[in-house]
Amino acid sequence: MRRVLSGMRPTGVLHLGNYLGALKNWVDLQEEGYECFYFIADWHALTTEYADPSEVAYYCREMAIDWLAAGLDPERSVLFLQSLVLEHAELNILLSMITPVSWLERNPTYKEIRQELKDKDLATYGFLGYPVLQAADILIYKAHYVPVGVDQLPHLELTREIARRFNYLYGNLFPEPKPKLTESPKVPGVDGRKMSKSYENAIYLSDSPRVIWDKIRPMVTDTQRKRRTDPGDPEKCPVFDLHRAFTPESKREELVQGCKTAAFGCIDCKKALYDHLMEVLEPIHQGRQKLEARPSLVDEIILEGSRRAREAARHTMEEVRRALKLWTLSAEG
Ligand code: TRP
Ligand code: SF4
Repeated sequence: MRRVLSGMRPTGVLHLGNYLGALKNWVDLQEEGYECFYFIADWHALTTEYADPSEVAYYCREMAIDWLAAGLDPERSVLFLQSLVLEHAELNILLSMITPVSWLERNPTYKEIRQELKDKDLATYGFLGYPVLQAADILIYKAHYVPVGVDQLPHLELTREIARRFNYLYGNLFPEPKPKLTESPKVPGVDGRKMSKSYENAIYLSDSPRVIWDKIRPMVTDTQRKRRTDPGDPEKCPVFDLHRAFTPESKREELVQGCKTAAFGCIDCKKALYDHLMEVLEPIHQGRQKLEARPSLVDEIILEGSRRAREAARHTMEEVRRALKLWTLSAEG
């Protein structure tokens, strides 16, 4: 069966951009019958959060809850925590032996993020080696497909180069994983810029209906539409940008007409947006409530998933040690 693997860094709680851009695709792949491995990349979170890692555990737990509430099913997908599968670290160290430093230094994501997070000192060995650990995450499960956003393509290309080099040096062991880009609508935040935790413009999966309305109600609209009777232009309106991501096309056309003719006001338009957001969020909220009522269930699911992941990872590591001709002293590893 074709195997899919992906991970997310627990550096915040998930917002609608994360949902439409990634999590929803993960659920769809599970529904399409792929063998899916999804993990919480807590070691990768530490590459940028090492100076204050105190919130990472909280974000891990919230992430697991959001995943389950959004429809990832532990019966069908292996849901696990990276740091519970120590084999990732073992493969990381072996892959680091064969990865030229120049490959890592020229990685565009590396340069960009260092620029973006200027307030953090990212001149570390761990941050430079981020893509090697990511390669280990992927190759240890011999994944065929990796659902990621375009920002991750350079990392995936590095994984493929590392796999090729490994196969060339030690014999064919790893399939070269392919990215699985699913087009998803761009999700703007409530200020019209890209939805992002750092812009403080995000709507989180865990936001209550009240909080969501309080974020939508004061949104800036077409600034030319000052009075209820002025016609507006949806092209110039951040509310409409959100409609593009969440409101079905036929309904959207109605809104365009209503806006351009001043047949209805911005508050009506925002209420319609709220309703469409809630169609997505309502089932997630219900899922979250059920899980919050049974706290130990989430832990059990992640522990069990990590146990299953470890089994697969151990199997690959035996092959890897053999391929490298390491001195294997005992049958139990
Ligand atoms: N780098 C990914 C991100 O920031 C997270 C990640 C870590 C990952 N290991 C992975 C994604 C392996 C896919 C496969 O989104
Ligand atoms: Fe924006 Fe809707 Fe108001 Fe038109 S009616 S300006 S699209 S909020």
